[in-house]
Amino acid sequence: MSRILSGIQPTGELHLGNFLGAVRGWVSSQGGNDAYYCIVDLHALSGEHDPATLAARTLETATCLLAAGLDPLSCTLFVQSQVPEHTRLAWLLECVATLGELGRMTQYKQKAGRGDSIRVGLFTYPVLMAADILLYQADAVPVGEDQRQHLELARNLAIRFNHHYGQTFVVPEAATPPVGARIMDLQEPRRKMSKSVSSPLGTIGVLDEPAEIARKVKKAVTDAGSEVAYDREAKPGVANLLEMLAAAGGGDPAELAGHFGSYGELKSAVAEAISELLRPLRERYGELAGEPGLVMKILAEGAERAGEVAARTYADAARAIGLLPGH
Ligand code: TYM
Repeated sequence: MSRILSGIQPTGELHLGNFLGAVRGWVSSQGGNDAYYCIVDLHALSGEHDPATLAARTLETATCLLAAGLDPLSCTLFVQSQVPEHTRLAWLLECVATLGELGRMTQYKQKAGRGDSIRVGLFTYPVLMAADILLYQADAVPVGEDQRQHLELARNLAIRFNHHYGQTFVVPEAATPPVGARIMDLQEPRRKMSKSVSSPLGTIGVLDEPAEIARKVKKAVTDAGSEVAYDREAKPGVANLLEMLAAAGGGDPAELAGHFGSYGELKSAVAEAISELLRPLRERYGELAGEPGLVMKILAEGAERAGEVAARTYADAARAIGLLPGH
């Protein structure tokens, strides 16, 4: 049995990239493992956010995750801010991390590049993420490709802390899926699918109706020529569609390419496969959305269970680093 931890920002409705890159793996890893899944509302404060909607989105994200198949009897689903040890451990780790290594984080560089008034929280974001992971002594962290560098930082901080202050943390491994770890925007296939930057046509929401999915896939940017071939460099749009198809329905993207004589045929198959893949989630969401009290209860129980593990690890880390025991 492995200890698993992963997290997601509360953007409300998940998108297909979240689902294929991470959440689907969360669902399949929950049985037979000791799995913790965290809605990282504190991370969401590091960028522009609307206080009036953050709490609602946190609840909506939880509802989507349950609709995707997380089962509170098989995993622990909780909200980051409800377990105070996350920020407590983050401070200890900030005193282990260096300015140099945080400055090299590509996600920070991309986001910071967009404005002058960079928030300190955006810079220290990966340290809080390391705290999320190390608090649970996670062996494996199922994430999409874009989180690999952050994972590497968490590993380095664990190794450094253990080296200086004695064995305290498990050094975690990233677990990325073989296909679907980097789903690209349908309109800009050289940029990853994301809620924040893409046009609405570029992102498929997991609750999109089949007609909406078909419309977006039909309008997806494809590449020059007409041959369906799997080439990420020369044909990023077509390659992305083939990866979606492979991730949704199984198979290998390069091999699947041979089944289609035109972009139109490929697009119809992709739209169909994605609609079918998301159908159970959509239906279950419809039922759960009317029961916010139930979702809140699941989150409260989750925070309690997570808090027990987190408190133990934090106490060990605090003792190791030289803090006086007690409150
Ligand atoms: P977030 O909220 O951006 O994304 C949640 C998960 O979805 C994956 N993902 C994708 N996978 C494939 N293709 C895409 N286009 C795509 N977009 C997103 C992400 O890789 C992620 O696994 N920093 C994290 C949240 C976090 C976390 C953690 C993750 C905080 N603490 C501890 C793991 C462990 C983030 O912003 O993910």
